[in-house]
Amino acid sequence: MTRPVLLDCDPGIDDMLAILTAVASPEVELVGVTTVGGNVGIDTTTRNALDVLAMAGRADIPVARGADRPYLRSLSARAESVHGDNGLGGVTLPTSSAGPVDATALELIVETVRTATEPVTLVATGPLTNVAHLFAVHPNVASRLARLVVMGGSIGAGNRTPAAEFNIWADPEAAYRVLTEPGLPRPVPTTLVGLDVTYRTAYSPDDLDRLRSAGTVAALCANALGYYLSAYGRDHGMDVVPLHDPLAMAEAIRPGLVTVARAFVEVDTTTGPSRGNTLVDLYGRPTVEVGVDVDVPSTLDFITTQLESLAAVGLVEGELASRGRDWVSR
Ligand code: RIB
Ligand code: CA
Repeated sequence: MTRPVLLDCDPGIDDMLAILTAVASPEVELVGVTTVGGNVGIDTTTRNALDVLAMAGRADIPVARGADRPYLRSLSARAESVHGDNGLGGVTLPTSSAGPVDATALELIVETVRTATEPVTLVATGPLTNVAHLFAVHPNVASRLARLVVMGGSIGAGNRTPAAEFNIWADPEAAYRVLTEPGLPRPVPTTLVGLDVTYRTAYSPDDLDRLRSAGTVAALCANALGYYLSAYGRDHGMDVVPLHDPLAMAEAIRPGLVTVARAFVEVDTTTGPSRGNTLVDLYGRPTVEVGVDVDVPSTLDFITTQLESLAAVGLVEGELASRGRDWVSR
């Protein structure tokens, strides 16, 4: 029986790979995608989600727009410098003929959970604004989730600030609601896949070269990741590109790739330099599972295999692969 999965995301280069990993995996059925403003604005994250699904031949999967910005404090900046102005590292996809459904992200999540024949796994790879909205407005529906897997936070340092990882930094109040004080009638098993494990789950330039020769979709991903690699090299001195969101999706599809420890996670919602920090107390009253280790070879093999299995639908094989390649040469 394939398990239903919902993805709330802000595509985003690595969000694109999370979407593709899900649609390529027979173990799960991606029953819906909801979008949030994060890496780039909501119009672009929604456009990208639609176009990525169409490229993979899954324009049938419903996409619903969610929050463009946090409910409380506005974002001081997005992540165009990391994901490109178009959110996909300069890679341009054919525009899908499908549009978002006539429902909000919250409405799509609620309707999907209510009508699912078995409990839904929700994967969140962007700011948690939509998920917090679900927890606040429909706690009973949220309680029916089989599992929540969040890409975000870190036990150690952040990547947007020294203290905070981007998804949490973008909406700390939402993250507090989801991770620190969920307040649900029935707790939802929640796994926090943070930088401590995603930084280790990374492609090298050689991996990207191999990906580039493994079919059109894989090549396109490699080109987009080339932009991401250059950004992480510039900003963090890294010579590998972390697969943040694909790791969260891989853990949802194949539980156990990430080793977890139960912990109390306090999200810092102050307005000082530690805003958005996830203080992980491994000895406190546990609220979530936090990723502390990862089976890197198995995870990279799984993600790579999924990406290489996809054929671009209705596109010229070589043409799509060359899109965005100019970033590789930088
Ligand atoms: O910090 C990495 C996370 O922030 C990823 O989800 C990336 O897509 C951005 O949203
Ligand atoms: Ca993301």
